[in-house]
Amino acid sequence: MKVRLDKLLSERGLCNRSEVDKLIRLGEVDSRYGAKLVAKQKVEAEEILFRGEPLDPEKLYILMYKPQGFVCSHDDKGQLVYELLPERFNRRRPQVASIGRLDKDTTGALLFTDDGELNHRLISPKHHADKVYEVWLEKPIADWRVQPLREGGLYLEGESKPLLPAKCSLLLEGQDEILDIKQVTSAITQAQEANVEESDHLLLTLTEGRYHQVKRMFLALDNLVTKLHRVSFAGLDLKGLEIGQWRFLTNEELQTL
Ligand code: URA
Repeated sequence: MKVRLDKLLSERGLCNRSEVDKLIRLGEVDSRYGAKLVAKQKVEAEEILFRGEPLDPEKLYILMYKPQGFVCSHDDKGQLVYELLPERFNRRRPQVASIGRLDKDTTGALLFTDDGELNHRLISPKHHADKVYEVWLEKPIADWRVQPLREGGLYLEGESKPLLPAKCSLLLEGQDEILDIKQVTSAITQAQEANVEESDHLLLTLTEGRYHQVKRMFLALDNLVTKLHRVSFAGLDLKGLEIGQWRFLTNEELQTL
């Protein structure tokens, strides 16, 4: 679909509309076919090069390994997760936003998009995207004590809707490392083989995304989450990403959402 060049470049966060003619004169905006451009003309996005590079995709779908200490907000005090993305992404309209949030002290898989429809769909309670968390607790918890989380029906403080059933497995105690998705199954098997009956280290799979849900679930069981890491969101895990890094989703991954 053709759109005005100045509108295209400003919506993609690359410059203001008023700057486009100047950037063309400076050779920073080009047609890959060598066509002469003016700001007002209608173009196909695929034709345009900005500083010699093709434009970013029309819609952004991003997976980030969120570090500790970054807030999921556009305008909070302190370090924001958006500062880990290129500035041009943050200047886009519509705005790039995280799909749901992780707390400042939580690490792990966090998706971003400027596709409002997908964002809405994935955080909708009807969608039930799996969110896998590795959880560390202040005190060891007994297996029977987490049974209400598995069964569902527990009420979080101040809420009138009971929790849906969650998957919850105790892992070996005293292990500090973060698991990647490939290690999850063997960590569960190891704990089962060791007959772990209580632990301060668990794996939890939620299909809901309520405010501070994991921390409030364990508060309801008279315990405290001391460290929280999201191993995967909707099947997307952190393989290949270092803390603070991000990547675009592949088309295949996008189809699964
Ligand atoms: N539940 C929480 O309590 N915190 C998070 O960051 C994510 C889920």
